Amino acid sequence: MARLLGAICTSHVPAIGGTIARGAQEEPYWSPFFAGYPPVRDWLADVKPDVAVMIYNDHGLNFFLDNLPTFAVGAAPEYRNDDEGWGLPTLPPYPGDPKLSWHVIESLVADEFDVATCQEMRVDHAFTVPMSLLWPGRVSMPARALPIAINTVQHPLPTPRRCYKLGRAIGRAIESYPEDVGVVVIGTGGLSHQLDGERAGFINRGFDLECLEKIAADPEALLRYSIHELVRLAGTQGVELIMWLAARGALPGRVRTAHRHYHVPISNTAGAVLVLENAARA
Ligand code: DHB
Ligand code: FE
Repeated sequence: MARLLGAICTSHVPAIGGTIARGAQEEPYWSPFFAGYPPVRDWLADVKPDVAVMIYNDHGLNFFLDNLPTFAVGAAPEYRNDDEGWGLPTLPPYPGDPKLSWHVIESLVADEFDVATCQEMRVDHAFTVPMSLLWPGRVSMPARALPIAINTVQHPLPTPRRCYKLGRAIGRAIESYPEDVGVVVIGTGGLSHQLDGERAGFINRGFDLECLEKIAADPEALLRYSIHELVRLAGTQGVELIMWLAARGALPGRVRTAHRHYHVPISNTAGAVLVLENAARA
């Protein structure tokens, strides 16, 4: 059976991808941020995932206002990125795993999550930047990826609790897959940031630290927030926390934090990374 190895939650700010492309990770502005990732890569080297399930939010590359599913699951043989206007390079495609995708889709729909199925899907910086952070140069990158997109563009957005439940259902889907593959679930976005309007540049350190604390041991404390409360507390784009909650939801049993790192600011965002694993594993 498939093995759920753990979850990683990480920021996905486009400028990180630009910095990786320039090889400028050691610049004084950037090094305190990138310093959070070697322990994540050590953990990955230990658990050796075969598949990366990437829960992220598309920012208008694949979906736009004319057609915006709340939840969308990739079922393509490969996934490409494209120019989004951030000056990031177009990268070689990421191989998919249609067989696992269709298993997950069948399981989610049976579990009453009526997702959009995408046999073609372009992936944006919220997918590619975490990939580059976790597997620089694609060294030891999982052979296959499964992108799952959650709408954060067109309100109404799914609630934190709904996204956590989606994560639960994703976890059940993975654990019922009959092949012997190791799977890591990644949730990307956040933490607090607001890119537009009167509060542009808004960051809420206190709320971020509460999230980093509560997500493993007491996710319920975060699930009671409405989307509008999240906007108030974390900024309009800080709602990307719902991707973290979905990834957290995938993990069964008691969960512990294997690694956490927080650094403010990265561009306009509170940069953060968390590694979560089943407490029994430790
Ligand atoms: C930034 C952060 C994001 O999450 C994003 O999608 C785009 C830009 C930023 O801080 O620059
Ligand atoms: Fe974003």
